[in-house]
Amino acid sequence: IDSNNIRNFSIIAHIDHGKSTLADRIMEFTNTVDDRTAKPQLLDNMTVEKEHGVTVKAQTVTNYYLAKDNQQYVLNLIDTPGHVDFSYEVSKSLSATEGVILLVDATQGVQAQTIANYNLAKAQHIKIMPVINKIDSPNAEVATVKQQILDLDSEFKSADILETSAKNGTGVPELLEAIVANIPAPQVADQAPELKALVFDMTYDSYQGVIVHIRLVAGEIKANQKLVLMNAGKTFDAKAIGIFNPNMVEQDTLYAGEVGYVVTGIKEVNQIRVGDTITTAVAGTAEPVPGYEEATPVVYAGIFPKDDFLAMKSALFKIALNDSSLKIEDDYSDALGQGFRVGFLGNFHLQIIKERLLVEYGVEVITTSPNVTYKVHLKNDKVVSVNNPVNFPNYSDIDYVEEPIVMVTITTLPESVNQVINLSEKYRGVLIDLNNLSNLSNLVQLTYNMPLSEIAYHFFNALKSETHGYATLSMGEITYQPADVVKMTFDINYSNVPQLTFITNRVNAADQSQELVHKLKYAVPRQLYPMPAQAIVEGKVIARVDIPPIRKNAAVSGEKKSISKQQALLRRQSLNKRKAKQLEFELPQSVFDIFLDI
Ligand code: GTP
Repeated sequence: IDSNNIRNFSIIAHIDHGKSTLADRIMEFTNTVDDRTAKPQLLDNMTVEKEHGVTVKAQTVTNYYLAKDNQQYVLNLIDTPGHVDFSYEVSKSLSATEGVILLVDATQGVQAQTIANYNLAKAQHIKIMPVINKIDSPNAEVATVKQQILDLDSEFKSADILETSAKNGTGVPELLEAIVANIPAPQVADQAPELKALVFDMTYDSYQGVIVHIRLVAGEIKANQKLVLMNAGKTFDAKAIGIFNPNMVEQDTLYAGEVGYVVTGIKEVNQIRVGDTITTAVAGTAEPVPGYEEATPVVYAGIFPKDDFLAMKSALFKIALNDSSLKIEDDYSDALGQGFRVGFLGNFHLQIIKERLLVEYGVEVITTSPNVTYKVHLKNDKVVSVNNPVNFPNYSDIDYVEEPIVMVTITTLPESVNQVINLSEKYRGVLIDLNNLSNLSNLVQLTYNMPLSEIAYHFFNALKSETHGYATLSMGEITYQPADVVKMTFDINYSNVPQLTFITNRVNAADQSQELVHKLKYAVPRQLYPMPAQAIVEGKVIARVDIPPIRKNAAVSGEKKSISKQQALLRRQSLNKRKAKQLEFELPQSVFDIFLDI
């Protein structure tokens, strides 16, 4: 097909404004799926997504459309995730498109995530087509919402704003025509015939190896061709090539401007990354497609296998294939064995990965408390970056510590502004700016400098729940500022448990240590003997509880002993245990979860 007849686009929207429903309608109206077999929300096919009701991983589908001009068009719809932890994924998908549908719910109007997504599209300099959805709803306020959209961007024209009901299909035929008319065809560089294809996503199949999702920028690909992934430096034969319709459909050739897949057969997955360029192994291009910016992980946590390290390793690397924001390093712990230290985009991201390991690969893992990267200035003038609390230097060697601070912009409704201010102060935010988005009468923007640790651990979730999901947060550059932080370690039965090590602010340390040891009292499995749980800061025990023994104590059974004799026996038992360097029992995940909501 002529590249002039290709349209590559995405749908972007605030959560629940109808993106998946509209995608389904587009597939129906183009007969990509027939409406009797269409299952609700075809694109959200990950179990984890269904449970959380948000799109996590982008999916792609090719639709064939016979337009009013009697020409056949190829409409490649590239799905985007809908959660701020994943805005990196959104930009990644958008860079394979020439345009977006900016979908706005007629009953809700422009919302925070609408603006965040609009900004991402604007930054990519692609065509933005605003569409008002849910016009069938009795609560639809089309005129008001239209004005809000016009206020968003002076380039929008009232006549260009389409109205749809993704639910019953009203306006969808007009939308398809508008996509053909308004979204530019891919520009195909005919002066450079060498193959150049951008890898914007990947999946793994145990028989076929890595399957790359590509957008051809120049040249063409044929099945069985010898190709190379330029950054990874890996050569392979294209086992099969094709498009998503919506399932994989093989083709002989893919042409410049098209979107599709290549089965690489590659089984070692560690080096391959989204953003790589594919070209021919012989006489290929010298210039890769400008890559994506690498995503910077925000929080780090240890991931350790419950049973099988190798199974966990293979599953984690497969997930990392199409989630290039994960950063994985080796880690080892006496208590938990071999594992990884993994960098995530946020706590929610960590939770999603943990669930994907379980649901998609049946791998159960133990994750340790998440933390940010500190810059520790030592007395010997060296500076070390520490993303694992276990490696935090001894306090006697430290001159001072810097923690990451980030500028955050929070967009919310006027009625939530006070809650946002209280919450931001609680989490050590310093207000820099407060703006009424006066033209968008229903939104307020607040800008704060806030420690990244606060955002990464708790602030984000607290903000979501206090504002019922109607606030969004976008993060700017990370800078470092001096901070009075201390390392807190924990002993259970006088054995240090390195994976419970935790960095916190000195002012909070006393309260938090009390709370944490009390949580340990209930989380640590009881043994036959009583065990103390202690929190230690700078060599001093600052909190302690005693974990009581299991009631039926074998050692005390038999003949009746007086209470004081029983206690003496127990004391002796626990004293004996003091000699043990390591705990003699396994710690469940609940022990490591004590940090989750302090
Ligand atoms: P996320 O994947 O969470 O971002 O949501 P989404 O934007 O994909 O929204 P989804 O398509 O799941 O729709 C959210 C809800 O709105 C569902 O209950 C839909 O049935 C409903 N909905 C979608 N489009 C319309 C519409 O045109 N009219 C009406 N009345 N309801 C709609």
